[in-house]
Parts: sequence; C-alpha cells; structure tokens
Amino acid sequence: MTLHQRLPRAVVATIAIGLTACNGDHSPSPEIQAHAAHSIPARPALAAIYQRSCQTCHARGTSDAPLTGHGEAWQPRLDKGMDTLVDNVVSGMGGMPPYGLCMDCNAEQFRQLIRFMATPAETEEH
Ligand code: HEC
Repeated sequence: MTLHQRLPRAVVATIAIGLTACNGDHSPSPEIQAHAAHSIPARPALAAIYQRSCQTCHARGTSDAPLTGHGEAWQPRLDKGMDTLVDNVVSGMGGMPPYGLCMDCNAEQFRQLIRFMATPAETEEH
C-alpha cells in the first residue's frame, strides 16, 4: 500500500492546496475558503439577505466572484471607493447580475454586505 492510499483523501487535498498556495498565485487559502463557506453576517436581517442573494457566488471558490473574507481579492475593489462598488452591484458586473440578485436592497444594505464580505478572514481571529 502506498503512502498516498493510506492518507485520508481530505488530508491529501489539504496538503495539495497548501502547497499550491505558496506558488505566487493569489487564489484563496483553504482557511479563507472554509471561512467563506461558513460565515454569515452577525445581524440576522443582513444574514438573511446575504444567504438569499450574495452567498451563492461569493462563498465558493468555483465562481470568479471575490470570496467573502479574501482580503487580497477585495482590496483592489475597495480602492475604487464604496460608492463605485455599490453602483457596480446595482448595474451588475461581469458574472454578477444587477443588484446581485437582491432587487429590494437599498444602498445602505449593499454597503453593509460589502463591508462584511470584504473583511479579511484572518482579522476575525484577533
Ligand atoms: C450570480 C453570482 C453573483 C451574485 C448572486 C452576487 N455576486 Fe457579487 N460578484 C460576482 C462576480 C462574478 C463578481 C466579479 C465581477 C467582475 O470582476 O467582473 C462580483 C463582484 C462583486 C463586487 C465587486 C464589484 C467591483 O466593482 O469590483 C461587489 C461589491 C459585489 N460583487 C457585491 C455583491 C453583493 C452585495 C451581492 C448580494 C446582494 C452579490 N455581489 C451577489 C457574482 C455574484
């Protein structure tokens, strides 16, 4: 039996992802992917909107959407300014449909959702 067969598949996958994380590409680390998959805004009303509208795309690494908690992916977007980001959500951008699928969200709700998604995962541990 080879070493590869004896290691549980999840461990092998984690090691593989961990190795590729150091090769200079900016793909999110396994920790950030896990964070994105599980975290929701603390306020229940905002969490409900997030889960209904934004999470489908922003919580999984398979989409081009910047992942929730992936600070490196969000920083260049935040640099455009919050007003621009809200405008881009409202009009839609690339793979994101207009309003990010939240047709009844107002600008303040979009700002809160964006702040939540753009908060780097690692800062939550401090
Ligand atoms: C159907 C998938 C999808 C949904 C649903 C979605 N997004 Fe996105 N979002 C994307 C993709 C893809 C991008 C990257 C677009 C690009 O860079 O071309 C993106 C980018 C963004 C950006 C960055 C815009 C910029 O100017 O760089 C913000 C902010 C954003 N989304 C917020 C939201 C919010 C808030 C929600 C929920 C109300 C949401 N998204 C729902 C797919 C989605």
